[in-house]
Amino acid sequence: MSLEIRDLHVFYGDFHVLHGVSLTVEEGQLAGVIGANGHGKSTLLKAICGLVPVRAGSMTYRGERINGLSAPDLVARGIVYVAEVRHLFAQMTVRENLMLGAYLPRARKAAARNLDQVYSLYPRLKERERQLAGTLSGGEAQMLALGRGLMSEAAFMAIDEPSLGLAPGLTATMLDTIQAINARGITILLVEQSLALIADRVHAVHEIEEGRIAALAHA
Ligand SMILES: Nc1ncnc2c1ncn2[C@@H]1O[C@H](COP(=O)(O)OP(=O)(O)OP(=O)(O)O)[C@@H](O)[C@H]1O
Ligand SMILES: [Mg+2]
Repeated sequence: MSLEIRDLHVFYGDFHVLHGVSLTVEEGQLAGVIGANGHGKSTLLKAICGLVPVRAGSMTYRGERINGLSAPDLVARGIVYVAEVRHLFAQMTVRENLMLGAYLPRARKAAARNLDQVYSLYPRLKERERQLAGTLSGGEAQMLALGRGLMSEAAFMAIDEPSLGLAPGLTATMLDTIQAINARGITILLVEQSLALIADRVHAVHEIEEGRIAALAHA
């Protein structure tokens, strides 16, 4: 078992967003989380990745408790958040952004191999490696965000709405590459708004409704 979440509660100030979420992601799975705007999908991913504090409940990864660990500590354990593309460094090149993903010693040692992998998955990034990240198209920027996650030797990637702002054709290509990343042995928790987009691609789906797990569509 990879990730196990039990009765997770998250607040922003007094605002109670996650009301006792429980879910399990098996090692090697590509698991989906779906739900409408504002129901707590991003908050769940951020809680897992140490980016928002958890009020109550437990999270374990490969059998070890991870509640309260910082985002860098979690990256060191292989847990990486792939956020919307605005988290890229616009004034740095594609290659520099990728190398920032490899800032930990373990990842730095593997940087050359991982860079080859990223460029084979996303040849467009290789073509544009000297271009400033701020000048990339939406689809290219999303590739860069995923590539940077791969550079950090991720074992578990929490990917937040990679389809956001992409044309349908490009979304399909993006989801293909996420499946390819999963096929390399990386466990993935993928957030999207619509089940239709991911139903044929994931091993399990969890639906969040008003901060609670509503249904397990298939497992
Ligand atoms: N930093 C914050 N401070 C206060 N409230 C927040 C904060 N971040 C999110 N919220 C609120 O928490 C709720 C859940 O937000 P979240 O971003 O998790 O939703 P989501 O399911 O990812 O939505 P979307 O599909 O629009 O991305 C929303 O009502 C949002 O306004
Ligand atoms: Mg969101």
